[in-house]
Amino acid sequence: MLGIGAIIGTGIFVLTGEAAAGTEHALGAGPALTISFVITGLACLFAALCYAEFASMIPVSGSAYTYSYSSFGEIFAWIIGWDLVLEYAVGNVAVAIGWSGYFKNLLDGFGLHLPGYLSAATGTTMVQLPSGIWTPLTPAVETTYAQVLGTLPTETALLNLPALLITLAISGLLYVGIQESARVNAVLVILKLVLVSLFLYYGLPHFAPATHWEPFAPNGWKGIMSGAALVFFAYVGFDAVSTTSEEAKRPQRDLPIAMIGALVVCTLLYIAVAAVLTGMAPLSVLANEKPVAEALISVGETNIALLIAIGVTLTMPTVLLVMQLGQIRIIYTMSRDGLLSDKLSRVNARFATPTFATVVVGLFVAVLAATVDISVAAELTNIGTLFAFVLVAIGIWILRVRRPDAPRKFRTPAYQLVCSLCVIICLGLMLSLPWVTWVRFLAWMGLGVVVYFLYGVRHSNLKRPEIL
Ligand code: ALA
Repeated sequence: MLGIGAIIGTGIFVLTGEAAAGTEHALGAGPALTISFVITGLACLFAALCYAEFASMIPVSGSAYTYSYSSFGEIFAWIIGWDLVLEYAVGNVAVAIGWSGYFKNLLDGFGLHLPGYLSAATGTTMVQLPSGIWTPLTPAVETTYAQVLGTLPTETALLNLPALLITLAISGLLYVGIQESARVNAVLVILKLVLVSLFLYYGLPHFAPATHWEPFAPNGWKGIMSGAALVFFAYVGFDAVSTTSEEAKRPQRDLPIAMIGALVVCTLLYIAVAAVLTGMAPLSVLANEKPVAEALISVGETNIALLIAIGVTLTMPTVLLVMQLGQIRIIYTMSRDGLLSDKLSRVNARFATPTFATVVVGLFVAVLAATVDISVAAELTNIGTLFAFVLVAIGIWILRVRRPDAPRKFRTPAYQLVCSLCVIICLGLMLSLPWVTWVRFLAWMGLGVVVYFLYGVRHSNLKRPEIL
């Protein structure tokens, strides 16, 4: 439940539109988005096998951070821990913004229009349409309203208020405890699976590949890979399960089952959704931030579209919940190891949660979610997560060679092949991301190295199970 809770969210409900149709900076995959989902699904499956082997060897919270320490040593562990902030915290920034788009849309549907200055990333130029709705001034809006554009009010956005508020609400829930959080998550996950099934059920009768799958891959392999590099976001999160090892009853048995199980369920659903979505509507209908709802509207299923929009707004917060939980647990583990201030691993006596870490992570995510753009956050998340997958795959290989006899409750099958394919596909996806994402990624990692030499190197007291 935690795995699926973290996986299905902004990726499938929001980013599929851009990945299929393309953006100013990236080529779209077109209907071949289905292939993009197969490629990313395979990369994640290989990575999940490696994560599962690690989780069955080292049942300590902290995910790839913990695993890297065991295979590479402290500095690499720190680097990967720092990198995981991109996956979890920055990932949640993108999810909060994606959620905000659906939420704002629902409010607009009920005639409640959030002011432009409170509904987008700082600095975005907003325009009020004749219907009263505030929307970012994109080239598509300019073209559609060319006749009246001069008469429409505009303003500059100050912050994305719904994204800020949802992040604070989730942090509040995590402050109180994991039991409550896990229960809420389980109910919402079931609802989320019902929503995806509803989409497939009502979309399938309108599946018309002869009309919409011609051409199937308008931008060839380049488009398929750049679409894949973006929708990779949809899979991020299965590994979040491995951040909660110490809260599982039988981590060595249950974590591998949870990660691989959640991933297989979601991969099958995603491939089906991508096929139906691109087969039922032209790319022009999908090129926006709520492609699933728009595709249903375009074939006359307006009520189902509304139901799904309400459902997405209700259930997407499970992603926020699990990813936020993951980030807090990673910081907690790093602090316990002395690489970050020990305040971050103090457990509150009343709630039995690391409350200080919860507040710090909550504020970090909330401020970014209120101010930055969704694609900036999603692409950074992807590059950071892919990097973690690469290191985890290499780590498994290293441990098989150095410690072939260490007890492993789960063994990655054909590990040389699985690890090599994982590294190759993940690097391929990283290289398909825009160069500006690489610049941001390297800047963040550079900052991490500086912090390590200023703080971690002197305070570290790592006590890991002896693996090497
Ligand atoms: N996989 C998660 C989502 O798509 C992060 O929202």
